[in-house]
Amino acid sequence: MRRLLPVTDMTAAETEGGTAAGPAAAGPGAGGRASAGPAAAGPGAGGRASAGPAAAASAAASGPGSSASGREWSLDELADAYAYPALPAGEGAWLRANMVSSLDGAGQHDGRSQPLSSDADMRIFGTLRGLADVVVVGAETVRLEGYRPARAREAFAARRAAAGQGPAPVIAVVSASLNLDFSLPLFTEPLVPTLILTGAAAPPDRVRAARAAGAEVLTAGDGAGVEPARAKAALAERGLRRQLTEGGPRLLGQFVAAEALDELCLTVSPTMTAGSAQRIAGGPSVAVPTRFAVASVLEQDGFLFTRYLRI
Ligand SMILES: NC(=O)c1ccc[n+]([C@@H]2O[C@H](COP(=O)([O-])OP(=O)(O)OC[C@H]3O[C@@H](n4cnc5c(N)ncnc54)[C@H](OP(=O)(O)O)[C@@H]3O)[C@@H](O)[C@H]2O)c1
Repeated sequence: MRRLLPVTDMTAAETEGGTAAGPAAAGPGAGGRASAGPAAAGPGAGGRASAGPAAAASAAASGPGSSASGREWSLDELADAYAYPALPAGEGAWLRANMVSSLDGAGQHDGRSQPLSSDADMRIFGTLRGLADVVVVGAETVRLEGYRPARAREAFAARRAAAGQGPAPVIAVVSASLNLDFSLPLFTEPLVPTLILTGAAAPPDRVRAARAAGAEVLTAGDGAGVEPARAKAALAERGLRRQLTEGGPRLLGQFVAAEALDELCLTVSPTMTAGSAQRIAGGPSVAVPTRFAVASVLEQDGFLFTRYLRI
């Protein structure tokens, strides 16, 4: 993993040697390595650096003296890089989205986002969950991607405890129909009860079925659907202020249109899919494009891990 932006002395050290530490130089006590994936070799490991055409292209692009993708960052370093901003005591919420897109703008391939992803992308996906109070997700993504409850991960345990968070984020499913399989572990086996965000006109029998399965149903809209800004506020009122949405595109588009999205963590996957896949945000267009400023860019194996903040 290399930091491309913001450019710092550390960035230069990384591109020269490929072994310098990330933002929080992982000294004693840095966690995460134990639970890192199969490619979690320590500093100096060259496996990814010499792997495949994507890595070679990235090495060429980064100029003379550079070292392809450098070493893999620990989960602790990733958690530091993606820390939520400090929120004013007792008020407000920060909603970030984590999405992956192909080079030609596809947000899925064959109905899933996994073909666009990578090991490093999944580590960042897991890190963002590890930092969040709540993961907000559209019902179609739950149905298509077979969502399971969030896990408590040792790598984030101390950080979560220090931040006053429970062992795992709450999953909040946004649905108008509540046409969900309530016998799934997402509803029957979570560490913390799964929330369902819906409108006041939700079908009463489905609301009863959700509650019987152990889910909590929250109303955040006067009609059939959820009002995005109201959902954000309702979660914040419950103390779920560090919010993460994992889409899908129809839900994300509504957060954008409501100006409720504060940050986008976008993985640019070095793939092209052609076809007619959804983009990462759908629904009605906004009147004026919403502007974001780039906050950071990391790279591994040709994947760009970008972070944008709404201006
Ligand atoms: N590229 C990525 O990072 C990424 C991330 C996530 C998902 N995806 C892909 O995106 C696809 C699914 O996304 P999608 O856009 O079709 O669906 P989605 O946004 O995940 O879910 C849409 C559903 O959410 C509910 N919903 C949305 N807005 C609502 C509102 N305001 N009030 C009440 N309910 C609301 C409705 O559920 P009901 O029908 O139950 O009422 C609606 O049918 C999948 O192929 C998935 O793989 C990609």
